[in-house]
Amino acid sequence: MSRTIAALYRLFYDGVLCRLPEPTAIALGQAALRALPFDRLPVFRLEDPRLPVTLGGVRLPNPVVLAAQYYDPRILCRAMGLGFGAVTTKTITLNPRPGHPQPNLVRVRSAAGPGLVNCNGFQNPGLDAFRASLTGLRHRVPLIVSVAGESVEDYVTLVRALGPFGDLVEINISSPNTRLVYAWSERPRELRGVLEALAAVSPRPLIVKLSPDFAEANEHDIIPAALEAGVRIVNYGNTRRIDEPRLSQGSGGLSGPEIFPATLDNLRRTRKRFGDALEIVATGGVDSPDKAAALLAEGARAVGYFTGFITRGPILARRILEHLLHAA
Ligand SMILES: Cc1cc2nc3c(=O)[nH]c(=O)nc-3n(C[C@H](O)[C@H](O)[C@H](O)COP(=O)(O)O)c2cc1C
Repeated sequence: MSRTIAALYRLFYDGVLCRLPEPTAIALGQAALRALPFDRLPVFRLEDPRLPVTLGGVRLPNPVVLAAQYYDPRILCRAMGLGFGAVTTKTITLNPRPGHPQPNLVRVRSAAGPGLVNCNGFQNPGLDAFRASLTGLRHRVPLIVSVAGESVEDYVTLVRALGPFGDLVEINISSPNTRLVYAWSERPRELRGVLEALAAVSPRPLIVKLSPDFAEANEHDIIPAALEAGVRIVNYGNTRRIDEPRLSQGSGGLSGPEIFPATLDNLRRTRKRFGDALEIVATGGVDSPDKAAALLAEGARAVGYFTGFITRGPILARRILEHLLHAA
């Protein structure tokens, strides 16, 4: 059944969504997620006692995480019923941000399969409105709240205010579309101060989301600083920065299967270097059950994806879980 749904979705993605202008396709996809109760259909979920994992001590019903992109609570709630073991919010900033102008998302297709390049620029409602919208959101599975700031004070305010609404908090220092956030990876010393301050105030376990563009800094400076501050989880990672003349900013973050080989390499190296001291959420390019299984076999505590949700549809989580159980 899940195989048939996956095949039908591919036809829909290639035949309908890919023929629409990107903003129309996004609007259509999000309207469908808000309106259609896919999450009531058991076919999108799979529960089994062999699937749960812990992340920072928090129990996830399975190791598949929806990566950061959505902030609408109706979509977050829906996604929680679509087979994921945890759902991550869009990165939230102190003040509302309109994001970068259109075009801010384009499709790409390589031999590896369909991907995206975005320069979304953290379009989000800001701390106060987002916090109000989370009141009443039932955590059908753990919620990971993602935040980004331009100073230690910003991060501290965000983590204090939003932490209680999540089960874990993700510190985004890696989105390539806003210079001020991306540049944190170039200032590992200052970042150490941020991590120490956040570890002292966070009401929930912290995750640091890393950029695949800064492997050297990540592994020599940032992860050791995180561990010393008491932050034991990294999400490796975000999109890869590339030039893309079709976007309003002339560059953006590449996501999808083209970045999978780097995700696997980054995971292998990091696991070898830091061993069990570090819990790793491996994100980047997962769009099939075997890619998810390969990352888990290499020691990822969980796997995250976003682009696969768009290109392979909401059945992908279920397909991954079936594959994991079959291999168990
Ligand atoms: C349109 C779009 C918006 C995104 N917004 C965020 C964000 O707000 N915060 C963040 O940490 N990552 C964001 N990401 C990155 C994803 O969460 C993920 O780390 C990245 O796309 C790599 O995984 P994937 O290849 O499975 O998509 C975004 C990605 C896309 C395509």
